[in-house]
Amino acid sequence: MAAYDIIDHDYDVIVVGAGGAGLRATFGMVEKGFKTACITKVFPTRSHTVAAQGGVGAALGNMAEDKWEWHMYDTVKGSDWLGDQDAIEYMCREAIPSVRELEHYGVPFSRTPEGKIYQRPFGGHMRDFGEAPVQRACAAADRTGHAILHTLYQQSLKHNAEFFVEFFAIDLITDGERCVGVMAIDMATGEIHRFRGNKVVLATGGYGRSYFSCTSAHTCTGDGNAMVARAGLPLQDMEFVQFHPTGVYGAGVLITEGARGEGGYLTNSEGDRFMERYAPTAKDLASRDVVSRAMTMEIREQRGVGSNNDHILLHLEHLGSDVLWERLPGITETAKIFAGIDATKEPIPVLPTVHYNMGGIPTNYLGEVLKPTADNPDAVFPGLMAVGECSSVSVHGANRLGTNSLLDIVVFGRAAALRCAETMIPGSTLPELPQDSADYALGRLDKARNANGGSTTAEIRGNMQHAMQNDAAVFRTSKTLKEGCDKLDVIAKSLTDLKVSDRSLIFNTDLIEALELDNLMACALSTIFGAEARQESRGAHAHEDYPDRDDENWMKHSLAYLKEDWSIDLDYRPVHTYTLSDDVEYIEPRARVY
Ligand code: FUM
Repeated sequence: MAAYDIIDHDYDVIVVGAGGAGLRATFGMVEKGFKTACITKVFPTRSHTVAAQGGVGAALGNMAEDKWEWHMYDTVKGSDWLGDQDAIEYMCREAIPSVRELEHYGVPFSRTPEGKIYQRPFGGHMRDFGEAPVQRACAAADRTGHAILHTLYQQSLKHNAEFFVEFFAIDLITDGERCVGVMAIDMATGEIHRFRGNKVVLATGGYGRSYFSCTSAHTCTGDGNAMVARAGLPLQDMEFVQFHPTGVYGAGVLITEGARGEGGYLTNSEGDRFMERYAPTAKDLASRDVVSRAMTMEIREQRGVGSNNDHILLHLEHLGSDVLWERLPGITETAKIFAGIDATKEPIPVLPTVHYNMGGIPTNYLGEVLKPTADNPDAVFPGLMAVGECSSVSVHGANRLGTNSLLDIVVFGRAAALRCAETMIPGSTLPELPQDSADYALGRLDKARNANGGSTTAEIRGNMQHAMQNDAAVFRTSKTLKEGCDKLDVIAKSLTDLKVSDRSLIFNTDLIEALELDNLMACALSTIFGAEARQESRGAHAHEDYPDRDDENWMKHSLAYLKEDWSIDLDYRPVHTYTLSDDVEYIEPRARVY
């Protein structure tokens, strides 16, 4: 291995990732007096949170009566009873102060005529325990993520948070018992940095790019998940991958569910508003797994639109251009750019597209990462926290409701800072670094940098993405999943044949993409092996050979352990069947009716 000089840093807290969760955690930590570093591979305001459109869920009741208990009920139901109800109670209750806080930080929310935060209906959000849709999504037009991300970055600047921008985190440093830091490369200079801290907070987002068609940015490569997997900790519920019903046909770019919240609807080739058949109460505002499956069924039964009968139409033209330009300006532009459609006049061609990873790094509702043991499925791995899409708290269970992602990032980014304030003292002695603290990360970096095989990163990544797209899709069968596992096994092993052409260290995107591919592969394998093992249908995991939910055998979280030879060992831990307080009772499993 080449000799690499290392630049050392000491911090109380190191946050990896500067999307909404990472930023909320970062300035929350600084506010509590912790010396905090935020490491991010893209400039903070380019993080994928910027792409979130429709809203952040909170039962503010600005438009009509609403209660956090109803929000909790919808979230449990949406999760298809795989969500942990203590964490869901925490999120839905804390939604209200967290969104008010955002308002005070300066998020430019759209307003009602009385000046309150504007709220729109969204899939799966209902009043009175499922009676009828409610307006709960707090929106800044259809650019809510953009508005929140910029405000959180401004707050971080106000608090003088320290950023390490365009630094790529390679691996965690652990001493076997706890996490003690992170190794990273400064992409601009190629310098290697070692960050030591009492707490590392992973906020690295999802891994949508393990699929061919997704709404996720190219940066969504599961970096934190894979670092955790390589450290010998499990990933949880990775088989639950959310398809958003309305990706632009062909491009995959997101058209917000807020479009249906404002009155948009879907039709098939016969002009039929088919959601009325699949979800008589919620119709086009049923939860996204339900809508994505309904669209796929229509296409399979030859009622898709177009010469190949392969997509569905989203109608917004009846809303009128005033509503579209005021409430949905972003997607009106998106439709023009990516589909060549004037949404004020014509319907938009859409197709379900990978959008969100419900699974991730298992944590409790305080943001602490879990390392389950035989005696204690909730055992905490000291020194490590995870927040946002990379985590599995689990508030989304088998299926996330729209708007609960922006909510998750602010509630749990904040929770991580609150937990650190409760359990740590700023400036405390830092843990000793193990002798070989840098070796593992630098070994991986060096191996990738000198990879001299016959297959490019793009080729191997393409093979992985196509296998995932075909074999771990909206509907899955034992056959497709088995074939997918076999293919992924071969594709992962083909990484020994990787070729990286650029051997330099200065802005070597060839090298960074190779490291990202390693990360994506760990996530893809955990996803497809977890899916193959789960013999039931629940939330986003629609298994045609096991069409029913099986609470007796499968109401449990799956845990995927990555081995050095890329094989996956599976284990399970119980779902929390209790709430956090006596204010609400545990919601017993029942059939999901929309
Ligand atoms: O449809 C959307 O605007 C997406 C929202 C979400 O995923 O929460």
